Amino acid sequence: MIGADERTPLIEEQSPRKRVNVWRYISLFSVGFAILYLSHQVAFSVVSPYWKLLLHDSVSFVQMEEAYIKTLQETNYARNWSLKYTEHPHLAGTALGLAEWTQTQFKEFGLTNVEIKPYYVYLSFPMDHLLSVVSKHGKVLYRASLEEDEIPEDPSSWRNNSVPTFHGYSASGNVTAPFFYANYGRKEDFEKLASDGIDMDGKIAIVRYGYIYRGLKVKFAQEHGCVGVVMYLDPGDDLGVTPANGFKQYPEGPARHESSVQRGSVMYLSYGPGDPTTPGYASNSPDVERQDPYKVLPCIPSLPISYREVLPILQQLKGPIPKEKEWIGELPGYNYSIGPTDISTQLNLYNYQKYNVTPIWNVLGEIKGIFDDEVVIIGNHRDSWAGSAGDPNSGSATMLEIIRGFQAIKRTHPEWKPLRTIIFASFDAEEQALIGSTEWAEDMLKSLQKKVIAYLNMDVAVSGSALMLGLSPVLNKLLMSTAKKVAYPKLTESGKGITLYEHYQTGPMKGQIDILGSGSDFTVFLEHLGIPSLDVGFETNSNKDPVYHYHSNYDLFYWMDTMADPGFKFHNTMAQYLGLVLLELSSREVINFDVTTYATSIHGYFNDTLKTVPKEWFKKRTNFTLIHRNHDNPHFEDLVDLTHAALLVFTKMSIKFDKYKEQLQLRLDKNDKLSFWEKVWLTLRLKHVNFRLKYLERHFLNNAGLKDRSWFKHIIFASGRHTGYEGQLLPAIREAIEDNMFEDAVLQINILLKTIAKVTVILLL
Ligand SMILES: *[C@@H]1O[C@H](CO)[C@@H](O)[C@H](O)[C@H]1NC(C)=O
Ligand SMILES: *[C@@H]1O[C@H](CO)[C@@H](O)[C@H](O)[C@H]1NC(C)=O
Ligand SMILES: *[C@@H]1O[C@H](CO)[C@@H](O)[C@H](O)[C@H]1NC(C)=O
Ligand SMILES: *[C@@H]1O[C@H](CO)[C@@H](O)[C@H](O)[C@H]1NC(C)=O
Ligand SMILES: *[C@@H]1O[C@H](CO)[C@@H](O)[C@H](O)[C@H]1NC(C)=O
Ligand SMILES: *[C@@H]1O[C@H](CO)[C@@H](O)[C@H](O)[C@H]1NC(C)=O
Repeated sequence: MIGADERTPLIEEQSPRKRVNVWRYISLFSVGFAILYLSHQVAFSVVSPYWKLLLHDSVSFVQMEEAYIKTLQETNYARNWSLKYTEHPHLAGTALGLAEWTQTQFKEFGLTNVEIKPYYVYLSFPMDHLLSVVSKHGKVLYRASLEEDEIPEDPSSWRNNSVPTFHGYSASGNVTAPFFYANYGRKEDFEKLASDGIDMDGKIAIVRYGYIYRGLKVKFAQEHGCVGVVMYLDPGDDLGVTPANGFKQYPEGPARHESSVQRGSVMYLSYGPGDPTTPGYASNSPDVERQDPYKVLPCIPSLPISYREVLPILQQLKGPIPKEKEWIGELPGYNYSIGPTDISTQLNLYNYQKYNVTPIWNVLGEIKGIFDDEVVIIGNHRDSWAGSAGDPNSGSATMLEIIRGFQAIKRTHPEWKPLRTIIFASFDAEEQALIGSTEWAEDMLKSLQKKVIAYLNMDVAVSGSALMLGLSPVLNKLLMSTAKKVAYPKLTESGKGITLYEHYQTGPMKGQIDILGSGSDFTVFLEHLGIPSLDVGFETNSNKDPVYHYHSNYDLFYWMDTMADPGFKFHNTMAQYLGLVLLELSSREVINFDVTTYATSIHGYFNDTLKTVPKEWFKKRTNFTLIHRNHDNPHFEDLVDLTHAALLVFTKMSIKFDKYKEQLQLRLDKNDKLSFWEKVWLTLRLKHVNFRLKYLERHFLNNAGLKDRSWFKHIIFASGRHTGYEGQLLPAIREAIEDNMFEDAVLQINILLKTIAKVTVILLL
C-alpha cells in the first residue's frame, strides 16, 4: 500500500519502501485466497487420481526415451506420409477423404477415441478472377494470367492439380481505378503516403508481402480509402537468393520461381481468429446463431500475383521515388516510383468468390494416461492452399511419425502408459482463420481449461534448415535441455556433428527464443485459454537454404524431396525432438515448467514497455484506488515501483519454487527405493506442486480481454494488432501507451500487479 507519507521521499528511500509496500499488498490478497485455496486442495487430494501412482509399476523414463528414439532412428516413414498428404490439393472443407485416411492411420497406430469432429463454418471459395491494366476508354493494355507455370518434371504442379491463386475471405468485387505502390502495406507505410500527400482515395494499392500478416495490409488500405489491393512477393525479400545474384530459379536452382504466387487469408487475424460469424463460440451446428463477419473481414477485393506479372503493372508508375531505402525492392526494371497513375492507366481488378457455410473436419485421437484430469495436446493442421509439402504436410508427416514412436514404446513395454493423457489433433481450416482449432477449443472450453497442461503446435515442421522456436517462457528450459538429446541432421562446415542444441545456439537463431504471436493453431490455446504453448519448425533463415515457396503451388512433394529435405532427415529430427518434449510433458511426474524464466521474462517485458511511456506520465497522479486506504491518487511512478517490487518478489519465489520442484522430481526418480509411506508423502507433495504448475498460466487471463478485440484474454501475450503474426507483449498496457490513454494504462498495470501478487501467493502456499 502506498501511504501519503511514503510517497515523497521516493528517490532517497526507494528500495526499502518498495519491499514494505509489496508485502503489505500481497498480504491483503493472501488471507482470503489462502483459505479458499487450501480447503480446495485438501478436498481434492482425497479423490485425486494421483493415488494410482502408488500402485503403478512404471517403466523408467530412460526406457521410454530409448524405445521412442530407437524406432525413429531405425526407420523413417516421413517421406511416405508426405507423399500421401501432398497427393492432391486439400483446401479447407474440401477433402473429407484425407480426414478419413488420417483417422485410419490414427487407429492403426493404436490411438483410442479416434473421431472426426465436424464444425460448420463460413468459408470462401475462389470462382473467378481477372487483373488488367486498362486505358481511359477501357482498352486492355495488359492482362495478367494469374497462374503459376506448370513444371514438366512435377505433374502435381500441373494446373488441373492446383488451387487458383486467390486470397481466402477476400471480398468479391469488380473495381477499375488508378493505382500506386505502398511498400509492405504496413500502417506506417500508408501513414507515410498520407503525410506525403499521396491521394489514395478510390485507388488500388499494390503492396509487397513481408513483415506483417497480409490481412492487415488490406485492412490498412481499406482504412485509407483504397478500393482494392494487389499483393506480390518482391525478390528483394528473398534473402539474396535471387537470379540477380546468380541463383537459378526453381526447379533448376534454389531461387524463387518467377511465376510463383503466395495465396493466403486476408481476414483480420489479430482481431480474433476462428469462424468470423461465431466470434467466441463454436460453430458446432449448421444453424448456430451467426454474427456479421465484416468486423474481421475486408470489404474491398484483393488478389495475389507473381513478381513476373506485377512488373509490367508497376512499370506504369511515375512520379516521386521514395528516399527511404526500405521502400526499394529488387524487382529488375522498376524504379519504385510510387505513382499514383491517372485515369489513362487504370487497373481493373475482378475477384469473385463464393461464400457459404460448409463443414470442416478435425481428426482427434488419444493415448490414455494414468491421470485422467491432466492432458497434453499436440496439434497440426491438415488443410492447405495447394499440395503443400511444407505447410502443413511436413507437420502432418512428422506427427504421424511421433505417433508411431509412441506406439513403439507401447510395443516394447506393453504395460506402459503415459502419466497424462495425450491428445493428437489434425485440424482443418487453419489457413483461413485458424478455424478448426479455434472452434474446437471454444467448443471444449471448460474441459480444456480444466485439464490441459500444455499445447504443442507444429505447422510447417520443415521448410529450411534453421530451427525456430516460439515458446511460452515456462517451456524454454525444457526445449533447450531436450535439444541436447537430439543430433542435428547436417554436419557443420568443418565436418563436425553437432546436437540440435548446439545448432540453435550457434546457428542463425543465435540462441534467441521467440515469443508467440499468432498465425497458427496455438493462438486459441495460449491467448484465449491460457494454456502454455509452443510452435516449432525448421525454417529458411539464411541464404544457404533454397527459397521457400510459401503458399505457392511449388510447395510440393517434388520440391521437398529434391531441394528442401532430401531423405526427410529434418522431418525425422523434428519427430525425435518434439516427441521427446511430448514424452517429458506427458510422463515426468513433476510438470516440467520453469517458472523463474517466466518471472524474469515478464519483468523484462515490463521494463521494455516502460521505455515507451511518455516522460511526463511518471509524475502524473493516478486514480488508482485498489490499495489506497490511507492514501489515494499515487503518482504513476509509484505504481511502476510497486510493480517492479512485485515482480522481484515473484522472481524470488519462483527460484525457490523451481528448486523445490526439481528436488521433488529427483526424489521421485528413485521411486523404487522408497518406502510406501514415503511414496504417499511424495505423492501428496507432487499433486500440490503440479496443481499449481498446471494452472499457473491460466491466472494471466483477464476475462475482459483487450480493447476492441476482447477474444484475446492473455495479459502477457497477444497477436500484435498492427502486425498479426508478431507477438505483442503486455498488450493491454502497450496499447494504452500507444494510444496515449493514461487512465487505461494505469488500470492495466494494476491488473498486472494484482495477477503477479496472486501468482506469487500461490507459489508460496
Ligand atoms: C514407404 O515407402 C517405401 C518406398 O516407397 C516403401 O518401400 C515402404 O514399404 C513404405 N512403407 C510404408 C510403411 O508405407
Ligand atoms: C491432369 O492432366 C494430365 C495430362 O493432361 C492428366 O494425365 C492427369 O490425369 C490430370 N490430372 C487430374 C487430377 O485431372
Ligand atoms: C467489370 O466491370 C466493368 C465495367 O463496369 C465491365 O465492363 C466488366 O465486364 C466487368 N467485369 C466482369 C468480369 O464482370
Ligand atoms: C521511373 O520509371 C518510369 C517508367 O519507366 C519513368 O517514367 C519515370 O520517369 C522513372 N522515374 C524516375 C524518377 O526516373
Ligand atoms: C527491470 O528493471 C528493474 C528496475 O529497474 C530491475 O531491477 C530488473 O533487474 C530489470 N529486469 C529485467 C529482466 O530486465
Ligand atoms: C479512473 O478514471 C477512468 C477514466 O477517467 C475511469 O473510467 C475509472 O472509472 C476511474 N477509476 C476509478 C477507480 O475511479
